[in-house]
Amino acid sequence: MITAKNLTKTYVSGEIVTPVLKGIDMDIKKGEFVAIMGKSGAGKSTLLYQISLLDIPTEGRIIVANTDILNLSESDRTKFRLKKLGYIFQDYALVPELTAEENVAIPLLMQGIPHNDAIQQARKIIDSIDMAGKYTNRPNQLSGGQQQRISIARAIVQSPEILFADEPTANLDSASSEQVIELMRDLHVKGQTIVMVTHEPEYTKYCDRIIYLDDGKIISHDYKIQ
Ligand SMILES: Nc1ncnc2c1ncn2[C@@H]1O[C@H](COP(=O)(O)OP(=O)(O)OP(=O)(O)O)[C@@H](O)[C@H]1O
Ligand SMILES: [Mg+2]
Repeated sequence: MITAKNLTKTYVSGEIVTPVLKGIDMDIKKGEFVAIMGKSGAGKSTLLYQISLLDIPTEGRIIVANTDILNLSESDRTKFRLKKLGYIFQDYALVPELTAEENVAIPLLMQGIPHNDAIQQARKIIDSIDMAGKYTNRPNQLSGGQQQRISIARAIVQSPEILFADEPTANLDSASSEQVIELMRDLHVKGQTIVMVTHEPEYTKYCDRIIYLDDGKIISHDYKIQ
């Protein structure tokens, strides 16, 4: 589902050159739930951004869902992201002025689905994560854990090929984190491919595999001994 070859990323800002990814080779198969771990500053988020098309690497090749993504034009890359990929961030990234159901409907509306249909589909997904009754709450009327679950609903509303998550539990207490991880496990059991950056070893319990990064290089990517 994802193949990266000799990926490098160097940030350049004026005179300051920061090499971050230093030759990454990896493969993630369809249906895998993979965690990316490593110390702060190791390059985990940077790697996630390159393979999820949120950024462009300095060098290397990335194939996602059979598409050589660095050959796409900017507008095709945006379409690809919108249709095929879902994102979950540490800070939820919900639109504060919109209700829960409107937030979840955003990816559908951006694809031109009529408003009423989009809201109906959004409600179905919200029901499936046990949050019926919160359709019209705005983000500030939801707990952190509920906001994160709404952001997961938004990420999966159009059945993405891959779900990317950057520290989805970092701002949550342990009970809410557990709920978020259980929700990701349910998606994984249904066949969803998931790539998740996390600091917390206990939240990798449902992952098939852990990729460890250190100083911009993969130091191990073995299957877990179950
Ligand atoms: N836009 C940027 N411009 C310059 N340097 C950057 C940029 N983004 C990240 N870096 C640098 O790249 C390195 C890796 O950052 P990254 O965010 O990928 O680390 P991380 O492993 O996700 O860390 P954390 O666990 O703290 O989130 C850091 O040294 C960081 O300062
Ligand atoms: Mg990070």
